[in-house]
Amino acid sequence: MLDRRCLLAGGAATLVGCAVPRAATAAGPATLHDFANRSGRVFGVAAGDAVLKDAAFGDLVFRQAGLFAPDYALKFAALQPRLAPYDFRWPDSLVDRALQQGLVVHGHTLIWNDDLPAWVGQLAPAKVGAVLDRHIETVMGHYAGRIESWDVVNEPAWLGSDHPGTLRPGAWADALGKDYIYRAFRRAAAADPSAKLVLNEAWTERSDFVGLAVRKSLLARVDNIQDKGLRLDAVGLQGHLLPQFPSDDAGFADFLHTLAERKVEIYISEFDVDDRSFPEADGLRDRLAAERTRSFFDAVLQVPAVTRVVTWGLSDRYSWMRDPSIMVADGLTRLARPLPYDDMLEAKPMRVAMAEAFARAV
Ligand code: XIL
Repeated sequence: MLDRRCLLAGGAATLVGCAVPRAATAAGPATLHDFANRSGRVFGVAAGDAVLKDAAFGDLVFRQAGLFAPDYALKFAALQPRLAPYDFRWPDSLVDRALQQGLVVHGHTLIWNDDLPAWVGQLAPAKVGAVLDRHIETVMGHYAGRIESWDVVNEPAWLGSDHPGTLRPGAWADALGKDYIYRAFRRAAAADPSAKLVLNEAWTERSDFVGLAVRKSLLARVDNIQDKGLRLDAVGLQGHLLPQFPSDDAGFADFLHTLAERKVEIYISEFDVDDRSFPEADGLRDRLAAERTRSFFDAVLQVPAVTRVVTWGLSDRYSWMRDPSIMVADGLTRLARPLPYDDMLEAKPMRVAMAEAFARAV
């Protein structure tokens, strides 16, 4: 947990050692970050250009959150779409604005078998390792002192039709096997020794055979990383809740306790609720999304190792679930309303559920 005042007083170079929660917001109603902070946690928001282009939305994000994560601008395909020098102007504009506003910044994501530029997929296998190394060094080097934590590897597991939890295919895994994970953590630790290194994973919130298999594979991956003597500071669990699949929040909390025995922090790193399967009538849809949120938050906030909760967006006005390609892939045509603030930037029942859950967890 970082104190905004440390950043404001001393600039980015003083990031290290500022591990105390900032005080509650001096004026106005308590923000989500205030509520999280009182329970010893950080509340964050991932978002894109909308924080710069839509002033009302940007104000809401920078007021409610204590941590900011660019949702796309730091992905490999955004930083180096062609084999040409890296272009940091776009992510710099987001990172620097968040820092000016007194937030800390999380980097998403260094190595992922998705959102890669085409040229990476065309590399000869023998060249892939060097590209991985250079990417981590270049990007972490550029942001050293400005970005507090990094998703070093995102979504290593795949759903696999018969064997969920196996390695997600893609340029890194295809060329290097699971060594790509160890190599990435080794490089990241050297590239910015003060950054927190995170392994981020999807689907563990489900309690069907897919979710259980991904949980098991994640525990094994954490063990393997640690057995190699590599530094792993936190595990991010995305928390894209999918109510159309079975879930068991108490069982999920048990899993978090098991994970915490590995002496890692746990971040809920991309929370939202896919509410498109809920009935619409009379506010029921928003109430059910809030109920789902309440149950999930109450379970995860029982676990002291959960130190950070990040929502993937803040207002329904801007959600990745409204991306036409995602909607087509999911076969759903209703617009999702997955976030704590509505299209008009008004607080929804989900926002109340989150604040109350943080308050109960003090
Ligand atoms: C999403 C971004 O929000 C979109 O802008 C992009 O088009 C697709 O990816 N899990 C992740 C995130 O780790 O990177 C994804 O973000 C959402 C699912």
